[in-house]
Amino acid sequence: METRRKLVLWISVLMACLTNSWVEAAPVKIRFDGCKPGRVMGGQGEIGPLMHCCPPMPTGPIVDFVPVRNMSKPLRVRKALQCLEGEELEIYVEKLRKAYAIMRSFPDDDPRSLEQHRRVHCAHSTGAFNCEGQGVDIHFGWLFYPFHRFFLYFHERMLQTFLGDPDFTLHFWNWDNAGQGGCGKPGDIIPPMYADRNHRSTYHLSRSNRTYDPELVVDLWVDAWNETRLPGGFSKEVTKARNLETMHWSMITMKDAPAGYSGRVYRAGYPRVTPYVGAGTLEVSAHGALHKWVGIDMDDFSFAAGDPLFYPHHENIDRLWDVWHNLSPNNTYPTDPDFLDAEFLFYDENLVLRRMWARDTLDMTNFGYTYEAVDNVEWLTQGKGDAGVAPPADEMPGYLDDLSASDGKKERSFLLRRLRE
Ligand code: C2O
Repeated sequence: METRRKLVLWISVLMACLTNSWVEAAPVKIRFDGCKPGRVMGGQGEIGPLMHCCPPMPTGPIVDFVPVRNMSKPLRVRKALQCLEGEELEIYVEKLRKAYAIMRSFPDDDPRSLEQHRRVHCAHSTGAFNCEGQGVDIHFGWLFYPFHRFFLYFHERMLQTFLGDPDFTLHFWNWDNAGQGGCGKPGDIIPPMYADRNHRSTYHLSRSNRTYDPELVVDLWVDAWNETRLPGGFSKEVTKARNLETMHWSMITMKDAPAGYSGRVYRAGYPRVTPYVGAGTLEVSAHGALHKWVGIDMDDFSFAAGDPLFYPHHENIDRLWDVWHNLSPNNTYPTDPDFLDAEFLFYDENLVLRRMWARDTLDMTNFGYTYEAVDNVEWLTQGKGDAGVAPPADEMPGYLDDLSASDGKKERSFLLRRLRE
């Protein structure tokens, strides 16, 4: 009895240590002071060069920001890019080009510039901000969705201001749509308005040559953090089938996903982790795969947000967060106060530094927008992995070639294992 009680005591001490509970739990808070250069996280830990991405310090006081829905205005609808047509498409593309031309015209140290948007995202990806002695990374954990919702919101607000059009709405890249849902047009190819080299404001030079092919279907099944697995080499049909499997897994079955849909618990003072350990199912799969598919700068968190294509990509992530939430009553947001009270800072269009909280992202209608209800029927009903459409990755020609070129690192990655089971 005595030994048993001792054992129980020791186990609880051990558990307390393992869960960090001797440190008072607290939410992550972003602070600009103490910001320093850092590195992005790859599949094996910190990688790449030291990045200098700290934002400028505010010249005035920080002002709290709580989004509240203006009931006298209808919600702005962020639409699927592939479904725009006719005059609506023409007007949209013209405004988009104009807004990004203005955004690019600000000096690099102005928070309204595209370069500052890149750096702000870079800073949040490289451990630049210090919280309780640890560099903060808003990826690979439960801050992923709230951070990006705020980031997109302030980005869009600036575009509206540049255009003098408070109703301007940034539309989304519906890359999970293989062509049966919604307006019946596939969204799984590069949106043409972002791929036109004659219009540099919405174009970006550092992308992979995959993006030069207007008909090439995106590969959502690539393992974004395993450098030995690169996109491509499959027929359109196989790629589409694999994409639906990825979506079905990341939105519905989530089989054996260690961090679930929302991502790992992440409090003040927690060390950074690698994607496989911390990222939620959609973040670790289709989200990362799209970054990899676009490639080069988009494939590097310190440069990704300098490509205008980053924003419609992330709007689809933002939309899918909401879709997931509405798929089942079991799909609930984290209720832990350290999630809800996580604190962010962003410059608004008037260069006022605003302070905001993750709790306020949970209802997007407070931001005045919603998403066009595209039909997700394809990955809801297909992609269950039982049709045998997507054979194991290491039996596929494209992957085999990449693997043999890479020193025989043949161990299968976390994601691909999960998808096969
Ligand atoms: Cu903040 Cu898609 O990355």
